[in-house]
Amino acid sequence: MSELNKIALKIVSPGKGILAADESTGTMTKRLESVNVKSNEENRLEFRSALFSSKSMSNCIGGVILYDETIKQNYNEKSIPELISETGAVPGIKVDTGAKKLARSNDEKITEGLDGLRERLKNYYDLGARFTKWRAVYLISEKYPSKLAINVNAHALARYASLVQEAGMVPIVEPEVLMDGNHSVQDCFNKTSEVIKKCFDELIFQKVDLKSILLKPNMILPGSKSNQKITSEEIAELTIKCLINSVPGEVPGITFLSGGQSELEATKNLNTINKHNKSKFVMTYSYGRALQQSALKHWSKDIKDIEGTQKIFDHRANMCSLASMGKWVEEVDKD
Ligand code: 13P
Repeated sequence: MSELNKIALKIVSPGKGILAADESTGTMTKRLESVNVKSNEENRLEFRSALFSSKSMSNCIGGVILYDETIKQNYNEKSIPELISETGAVPGIKVDTGAKKLARSNDEKITEGLDGLRERLKNYYDLGARFTKWRAVYLISEKYPSKLAINVNAHALARYASLVQEAGMVPIVEPEVLMDGNHSVQDCFNKTSEVIKKCFDELIFQKVDLKSILLKPNMILPGSKSNQKITSEEIAELTIKCLINSVPGEVPGITFLSGGQSELEATKNLNTINKHNKSKFVMTYSYGRALQQSALKHWSKDIKDIEGTQKIFDHRANMCSLASMGKWVEEVDKD
């Protein structure tokens, strides 16, 4: 077993998933302002370090994805990667520089960040990162995602993944087919399958070691503006089918993004997926909003109440952990 394969397996060990705390400063500012908290470096650190020092870290969180600002911060005289490593979780880092307008397309995007990546990776490794993330985004409509967007994003994801393995870290490959729009669940299934297959064509072509990556896909869902009613069972069945058909068996783990689902939806769907998953793929969470939303809301009311904030985060993390093993029991929606 290679060192990188061991890191990937450690991140997705039973009952564990990933805390995605890698919102760029722009995105984090939107999140904080939506709950009337000033977005400054101190507040961003305060909220995030509350999560990183919570009890559930040691049994529910296998890895934390950080943003450039956070990986360089200290809390109580410890660096953030140290604080995370002490809980048993692996520190990771988002290394793309964002999705930008794709030339010759009106609405589609290409993720950037390859220039100077080798040097940045070395720096992040020295700061303690042992895995990384790069997110490509795709829209669904009648003409999207275009072949152009599918091809260029797959190419960039594979170039990124190859450089990351060279630098001694595990790349998370994240092709996110967005929930936005009024498309059907079948459209989501078809387009997501096409996107993921193309990513693996490129990863294989560029000689990426598939045993040492993690895939971070979306679940198969109807568009957020479609009126299609669908059960969690159907979501799970289509999601598993899509992944079994498109992901090579060597990949050690699939870590879903929450992508705009509520905390409860993301937990319930993950649980149903794991109840039905007969494949050998580990299927777990790499959630941002679905792990942080309630904790952030609570914290925003009193930013000194770290204990209360941690309690709420711990509950969500424990629920996701149970769902990653198919052992979650329905919660009452308090919202
Ligand atoms: P969400 O779970 O909020 O979609 O975030 C996950 C993520 O890392 C998106 O890149």
